[in-house]
Amino acid sequence: MHRAAQGAAQGAAQGAAQGAAQGAAQGAAQGVAQGVVQGVAQGAVLRRWLAALLLAISFAPLQAQPAKLSQTGLFTPVASGAPERLAPGLIAFTPQYALWSDGAAKRRWLKLPPGTAIDARDADAWRFPRGTRLWKEFSHGGRAIETRYVEHGRDGRWRFATYVWNADGTDADLVPARGEPAWPVAQAPGGRYALPSVADCQACHESNAVPVLGVSALQLSPARDASIAGTDLARLVAERRLRGLDPVLLAAPPRIAAASEDERAALGYLHANCGHCHNRGGQQVPLPLTLAQRVRDAVASRAEVLASTLEAPSRFRAPMAADRAAPAQARSDTSEPIVARGDPARSLLVRRMASRDPRLQMPPLGTALTDPEGLALMHRWIAQLDHPRP
Ligand code: HEC
Ligand code: HEC
Repeated sequence: MHRAAQGAAQGAAQGAAQGAAQGAAQGAAQGVAQGVVQGVAQGAVLRRWLAALLLAISFAPLQAQPAKLSQTGLFTPVASGAPERLAPGLIAFTPQYALWSDGAAKRRWLKLPPGTAIDARDADAWRFPRGTRLWKEFSHGGRAIETRYVEHGRDGRWRFATYVWNADGTDADLVPARGEPAWPVAQAPGGRYALPSVADCQACHESNAVPVLGVSALQLSPARDASIAGTDLARLVAERRLRGLDPVLLAAPPRIAAASEDERAALGYLHANCGHCHNRGGQQVPLPLTLAQRVRDAVASRAEVLASTLEAPSRFRAPMAADRAAPAQARSDTSEPIVARGDPARSLLVRRMASRDPRLQMPPLGTALTDPEGLALMHRWIAQLDHPRP
């Protein structure tokens, strides 16, 4: 079964906060189903998803998200234009490999309940204490537009919500679970801004072993660019916010194994932007494509990514390949390898990243503009790879 839909179905089952199930239903029908599920055993997907949804509606406890962002505990509201008053005890963080979000600037925070710590015994799947809260703020042109919120509930469930900032910047309001695909925002590219649905959050965040994507041994490794702000592994351990981390990972901070700095940056980019769906768990996407890294066995991780990309045939027959009415650039040429050594132009991975046709684009969610730096990086990396022997 298609995992994005399954994620959405599970999400609908779990999310289940009042109205969230309904929102997830719509979101799945719109965003996920339309962009991602296309052409993949839709009947089965829908049946399973409907069953999960019915379960969700009948058994889910009702728990609404706070209506205002300030009520999630991020800050105390102040008059328009006054300096912000962030709550005490927030831990600011920045993942070393960030998700491209159409050029938005971001700030991120984490808050752990007093006296608790993240359990890092499984270096690649940290366990967050119940009551953990995380926020990510998106701004354009210096104006905060959206703040996303993830909470690990006391009941052990993960909840997702997003808030849209009011015009005077004093607080932000809960966005309906179905999202807002074209919210008017003068500062955003094109004057429109897409607020994701809860099903969209779940498609990306619940396809991985852990729903938290940017707080991990790799993302907070001290072996990163010194200009990156916020906490890191060493600091979290010193502040007793991280327990059980293998001391080896402090002595030799985790890094992606790579043949060059360009390759490391490229693999890091793919990990952050693609690995939450394309990972070894493989449940999200029924493809042998692995773009995620593990710190435990960095060398094996690199080998998996290379094996599933370099000269690897496309396994997915995109529905539009058979659709002769589709414009040429929307058709997927399945004779192309995922990555053609030395030849970015013949690499399907680049083609998918360079497209914003909803039937082709990668990632399928969360972006309407291609990432010029990410594409330039892929070009540099792929151009460096030796050509195959004739
Ligand atoms: C296209 C995939 C995608 C979608 C859709 C998405 N996220 Fe994320 N999110 C990520 C990735 C990847 C990160 C970590 C990298 C980064 O922050 O740059 C992240 C980070 C976050 C963080 C910081 C904590 C963490 O996991 O690192 C929060 C909070 C968050 N997202 C909330 C949400 C919510 C709420 C939604 C839906 C309203 C959502 N996200 C939709 C991919 C996604
Ligand atoms: C939200 C989940 C999700 C994210 C994030 C995502 N993908 Fe995908 N990807 C899919 C799904 C689902 C398919 C199969 C359907 C299709 O081909 O469109 C797919 C297919 C592909 C294919 C075609 C594989 C083949 O065998 O033909 C490539 C290449 C690809 N993705 C690359 C990427 C890259 C590169 C990124 C990051 C820049 C990325 N994906 C991010 C879900 C995702």
